[in-house]
Amino acid sequence: MKTLNLFSPLTLRNLALKNRIAVSPMQMYSATDGKPGNWHLVHLGSRAVGGAGLIITECTAVSPEGMNTLSDTGLWNAEQTEAWKPIVKFVQEQGVAIAVQLWHSGGKGSHTHPNEGFKPMPVEHGGWVTKSSSATTMSGVTPVELTIAEIQTIKNDFVEAAKRAVEAGFDSIEMHAGHGYLFHQFYSAVINKRNDIYGGSFENRIRFLVETVQEVRKVIPDGMPLLVRISAVDYLETEEAWTLDESVRLSQILADNGVDFITASGGGFAFVDKSKVHPGYQLPFAIAIKQQTNVLTGTVGMITDAAQANQIISTGQADLVVIAREFLRNPYFALNASKELNIETEIPWQYKRGF
Ligand SMILES: Cc1cc2nc3c(=O)[nH]c(=O)nc-3n(C[C@H](O)[C@H](O)[C@H](O)COP(=O)(O)O)c2cc1C
Repeated sequence: MKTLNLFSPLTLRNLALKNRIAVSPMQMYSATDGKPGNWHLVHLGSRAVGGAGLIITECTAVSPEGMNTLSDTGLWNAEQTEAWKPIVKFVQEQGVAIAVQLWHSGGKGSHTHPNEGFKPMPVEHGGWVTKSSSATTMSGVTPVELTIAEIQTIKNDFVEAAKRAVEAGFDSIEMHAGHGYLFHQFYSAVINKRNDIYGGSFENRIRFLVETVQEVRKVIPDGMPLLVRISAVDYLETEEAWTLDESVRLSQILADNGVDFITASGGGFAFVDKSKVHPGYQLPFAIAIKQQTNVLTGTVGMITDAAQANQIISTGQADLVVIAREFLRNPYFALNASKELNIETEIPWQYKRGF
């Protein structure tokens, strides 16, 4: 058997990735009316030219209320669907797969642009009333508890956005269920204080995510992989905090409902203790999920060098390395890694003289 390395292909349903390097979703706060534009084409396009196997777009709202700021991307109307098409096409022309990260920010919505301080934006200044699993204060704002009918509407928004993702030509969909956003606001008891079928027990708290996954799976092609990003832990020491054991259980349930791949991230309600942040600090989450379930697993968090990334893949600790900030510094991470590790990869013909 050939040993695995960073440039071994990976197959997710009918989608073949040329290597094990993914560009992690990164909000750019550069969209207009939810539409991606030239910035997104060049930003995502450069990383495709740079040889990643998979590009996951920034979190893309399924409805206007799902945004963080008014400059986030969206996929709730036809204009946005059209605006994604040339970006998807360019990335795919480079032999790179592209997934859209679908998302609802819930109680963390209605903020000003980061260049204006990323502060809660009140309704009288163009913001909106944020809603969540419960009226638990987060980021200084107390959201309104969602009714069962509103939960149903949001599930439907994910379904409609998934259909638009297929229409726009995306190879895959990642549902963002981490980082303190709406799905996480349901499965973590830190925020979820409901007394109905969506709160209380583990089964009730994960219900909103599992039902949405089931509905989305029904409207996307059988061959299209469905990915989910979770926060494997809350990075909180309280009794309500979400645990890694619960993440392992959730991951298996998601896999049983048609999810092909989990990225194990962390946090979202509290800042991570800086002393705990070191290269690969979230890798133990991916290892636990990979070892205890049959779902393919990605790791994210301070993966910055080729040897480290190759070690993660070749020792089977994770199936994919998902890299964010290093890709901001170095869009050509994958091409440089192939050179450093002395493993062949295809160089775009236009760039051959540089590598
Ligand atoms: C500018 C920026 C924007 C981000 N936006 C998103 C996002 O849209 N969705 C998401 O799941 N994570 C987002 N993240 C988190 C990253 O995907 C990643 O999980 C985190 O930065 C840790 O990985 P790294 O150490 O490789 O940067 C963002 C991170 C950065 C730096």
